[in-house]
Amino acid sequence: MFDKVAKTDKETADILENDLARQQDILQMIASENYVSEAVLQAQGCPMTNKYAEGYPGKRYYQGCANADQVEDLARERAKKLFGAPHANVQPHAGSQANMAALLTLMKPGDTLMGMNLQAGGHLTHGHSINFSGILFKSVQYNVSPETELIDFVELRKLAKECKPKVIIAGATAYPRTIDFAAFREVADEVGAYLMADIAHPCGLIAAGQHPSPLPHAHVVTSTTHKTLRGPRGGMVLCTEELAKDIDRMVFPGLQGGPLMHVVAAKAVCFAEAMKPEFVEYQKQVIKNARCLGEELVRRGLRLVSGGTDTHLNLVDLTAKGVTGKAAAIALEQAGITVNYNTIPYDKLKPMVASGIRIGTSALTTRGMKEEEMKRVAAWVVRVLDSPEDEQTINAVRSEIKEFAGDFPIYFEQ
Ligand SMILES: Cc1ncc(COP(=O)(O)O)c(C=O)c1O
Repeated sequence: MFDKVAKTDKETADILENDLARQQDILQMIASENYVSEAVLQAQGCPMTNKYAEGYPGKRYYQGCANADQVEDLARERAKKLFGAPHANVQPHAGSQANMAALLTLMKPGDTLMGMNLQAGGHLTHGHSINFSGILFKSVQYNVSPETELIDFVELRKLAKECKPKVIIAGATAYPRTIDFAAFREVADEVGAYLMADIAHPCGLIAAGQHPSPLPHAHVVTSTTHKTLRGPRGGMVLCTEELAKDIDRMVFPGLQGGPLMHVVAAKAVCFAEAMKPEFVEYQKQVIKNARCLGEELVRRGLRLVSGGTDTHLNLVDLTAKGVTGKAAAIALEQAGITVNYNTIPYDKLKPMVASGIRIGTSALTTRGMKEEEMKRVAAWVVRVLDSPEDEQTINAVRSEIKEFAGDFPIYFEQ
């Protein structure tokens, strides 16, 4: 696949070949990853990478932008249609930049931000002390209920009334359940806060109508385009007409220089793909697979945070197994399954060790796997977790998985 790279730079080509083989041979279950289509790959690798296009369609600081204008307009219009949004900005280089643009538009340094804490499933950009969001703003973090492990709106309302935030963020990186954006908006209205929804994870589910939409509840919606949406790595911001100008100005020139036009083109392609009926079927299967996988893991003795999932991911509590999240993730990788270790609500272990793993089904579903395959995957996961240090088990699982994965090719032109 990398013959042209190989002619110029054999060293890099070898690394790329190795990673393609890795992606083919393993079961990729990191909930924030997916396999983009060959159409998205081609657009992302296209010569538009050569174009500087600071500004926005019709108002650029460079000449030669007619095609860049067209493709950015296409991406913006498709994003608006797909999510029912009054305005879209498709230039953020990543989800973190989208969040930074939204937060710096809605609030000033020193204002109060309320987001979900990392341990409960929130993202670093939702007010963590080591992130810009916790450094620039006064961060108040809400938790999930210790009993149900669900967002507790009684507590959330109480906290919001106490701290009077300027912005409340609804959204998470490791929360397996439906997020009630309407309930968040009620709390935001009661305390006069803006509601920002970060849909980086459920974005594809929302596009396909398989998770409630944050629109029209949220004033601003941010997202990545590369997780469940299955597009190129990148971010976007959706917002009301009233905020459109300020959001655009904050993305450029506020935070970024020239947009990555090849990525914007690939975003246009992924939005077109997400409008197709097959995409709805895909997202339905993603959820069915996550539920089936979760049920199988429970049947085999594991505990799921919140007791299950409504989305593309399960958060698995490994405390009863006596293995840490980190040890589990390492053993699973050796056996051919990639996941990430993750804190669970009220975790007694630090994030770098963690008591859980987050395990998603988006990428395997893209490969065409269904419930039958999920049962086999669950069996392999538990086999490894039962003997994480047993080399024989790990080697046996790895070779079984390699053979199995061969039946689900990720790209045709290999
Ligand atoms: C909820 C949420 N927001 C924002 C981000 C940041 O996205 P990126 O890694 O593209 O900066 C992530 C990434 O994991 C996320 O899960």
